[in-house]
Amino acid sequence: MKIVFFSLFPNLILPYFQDSILKKALDKNLFEIEVVNFRDYAKNRHKKVDTELVGGGAGMIIDNNALRYALESYKNKFPQARTIFLTPVAKKYNQKDAIRLANEKVLFLVCGRYEGFDERLIEDFADEVLSIGDYVLTGGELGALVIVDSVLRNVKGVLGNSESLEGESFGNNLLEAPNFSKKGEVPSILKSGNHKKIDEWKNIASLLKTKFHRPDLI
Ligand code: ADE
Repeated sequence: MKIVFFSLFPNLILPYFQDSILKKALDKNLFEIEVVNFRDYAKNRHKKVDTELVGGGAGMIIDNNALRYALESYKNKFPQARTIFLTPVAKKYNQKDAIRLANEKVLFLVCGRYEGFDERLIEDFADEVLSIGDYVLTGGELGALVIVDSVLRNVKGVLGNSESLEGESFGNNLLEAPNFSKKGEVPSILKSGNHKKIDEWKNIASLLKTKFHRPDLI
């Protein structure tokens, strides 16, 4: 999978891939990343990428210029790419999206700043528009990283042990059952070796956890 971030702040993105599981996966060429600083595509003398809102309103938006040129250029290079804009004005991202997007060959993640994007950029380029939650961030970079991290876990080979994907939270719309290490007191059934009984216990525990923490999921 190739992932291209469109951002004015590459330094917010690149360090995330310099450690831990995603670094190992990157070293194994299981995916590839590129960050496009779309300021480089501005054609005006001051490399300005933002503008005031027409019709009034506070703040600035990403203008319909540099980002448009950057996206046009990359869409020509990667016509098969799925283009996702990050903004709080969007459908809320979830685990089903992560699993679905893990099948894409090329993902473009477009990170806004300020008050968002000139709407024509979204109309012309977005295959989908996603929010990571009901709060407003200073930009889309954290959202893009959240999406990429959760997508990559579902790409074959990225997690050493693909079984760790089984029984995870949200798989069946429930939260995962509690986990314990061997030492000390733990629910005795977990030490019984009876896998049928253990699975039954985990299903009930998972249901209770979900009811307590996220009744909206049931
Ligand atoms: N940009 C600002 N806030 C955001 C959010 N909640 N999700 C995605 N992108 C954003």
